[in-house]
Amino acid sequence: MTVESVKPATPEARELREPPLAGGGVPVLGHGWRLARDPLSFMARLRDHGEVVRLRLGPKTVYAVTSPALTGAMALSTDFIIAGPLWESLEGLLGKEGVATANGPQHRRQRRTIQPAFRLDAIPAYGPIMEEEAHALTERWKPGETIDCTSESFRVAVRIAARCLLRGDFMDERAERLCIALATVFRGMYRRMVIPAGPLYRLPLPANRQFNRALADLHLLVDEIVAERRASGQKPDDLLTALLEAKDDNGDPIGEQEIHDQVVAILTPGSETVASTIMWLLQVLAEHPEHADRVCAEVESVTGGRPVAFDDVRTLSHTNNVVVEAMRLRPAVWILTRRAVRDTELGGYRIPAGADIVYSPYAIQRDGRSYADNLAFDPDRWLPDRVKDVPKFAMSPFSVGNRKCPSDHFSMAQLTLVTAALAAKYRFEQVPGSDDATRVGITLRPQRLLLKPVPR
Ligand code: HEM
Repeated sequence: MTVESVKPATPEARELREPPLAGGGVPVLGHGWRLARDPLSFMARLRDHGEVVRLRLGPKTVYAVTSPALTGAMALSTDFIIAGPLWESLEGLLGKEGVATANGPQHRRQRRTIQPAFRLDAIPAYGPIMEEEAHALTERWKPGETIDCTSESFRVAVRIAARCLLRGDFMDERAERLCIALATVFRGMYRRMVIPAGPLYRLPLPANRQFNRALADLHLLVDEIVAERRASGQKPDDLLTALLEAKDDNGDPIGEQEIHDQVVAILTPGSETVASTIMWLLQVLAEHPEHADRVCAEVESVTGGRPVAFDDVRTLSHTNNVVVEAMRLRPAVWILTRRAVRDTELGGYRIPAGADIVYSPYAIQRDGRSYADNLAFDPDRWLPDRVKDVPKFAMSPFSVGNRKCPSDHFSMAQLTLVTAALAAKYRFEQVPGSDDATRVGITLRPQRLLLKPVPR
């Protein structure tokens, strides 16, 4: 099915149906209790009820889109904007003027400012930093010691984003602070999103105080990074310079708040998503030693034993497939929301103006209707002769359309390089106390992954 075939010219052009109500709702709370209790299974089962279904979250009706074709159609349609509870909770805390939450002309202008830093031909310039950071990560570890994968993954993700895009120095201490701040902020934001109990979060409780401190530190860090660049008088060719020099639609410099929110909007998704994915890649290397060995063998065959380099990435096809398969089964971004800006339709279902819509890349990417042996970790399903069996939009971890992640090439390059560097040097084993169960928050990551690296 193509996008065109699921989207007619106007909603009036044919008889539209009301989406069915998903089963399992209870009085008052509707489906909210299921979403709060076991969101992954809940989202994964919704397609059994239809390709578009209605959910009741307390007094509110929310629409869930469950098929690859319709999520693709929605992401590519101008009838929907970024909005909804997820974005509102993000906006309130991270700022309203950054690219991740803006809409319309402001969003288009902001994308034009940041896009050059992420273009495919811009990525090789980041190669030396990615290489340095990937090897520094493995060299920090002593054989036999226990590594805390959460802080190690955050550290490398923040350092790569900050050093490549903001040319930031002294990033060790900042990465540590950012890691602590983001972990607390994201945990608190998720809670505020699923349990919207406004006044409760203003009470002087320890959890609220911790959350407010972390949020303040996140904003302080960004102010420090911007102030430091300004004080240096330097204008290197990087994303921060592009943001500081950006002009609005009248040709005037953009305001301080927008600069601040833009840095937050890039650093925040840039570290949380990559860090969560690196945690899952470490988990995969420990859980599937046969694939770790294949990655190691591939790296050796390409490098002949020298340290893996950025330029090797495009030849490391199995390593790349391991990364893609890990992202399929454990997508960092597992839930997304949109809002209909006009009366419209999806797949013949009526969607009223103002409707909030959710969809889950996690559910889409694990669906047995799209993937044979859907829950098996099988990187070879991405080999050229098998990848054609994957339905369109059934694997879009970076999304599609005008809100597509600008960082897909940047992220894939660093994830493949880091995976290659890790598997070439170590085998990994989980140690007692490690818990690799999925922790659901704004992103998905292991609860507390603790590994012992064993040198090869
Ligand atoms: C947007 C995923 C890494 C910056 C998005 C979206 C997804 C996504 C799915 C679209 C959200 C939507 O449709 O509502 C990922 C994944 C990553 C990753 C899976 C890594 C594994 C990064 C990195 C950066 C970044 C490294 C920056 C350094 C952004 C920004 C947006 C975005 C700025 C907002 C784009 C817009 O609204 O125009 N990301 N991302 N992401 N991502 Fe990423």
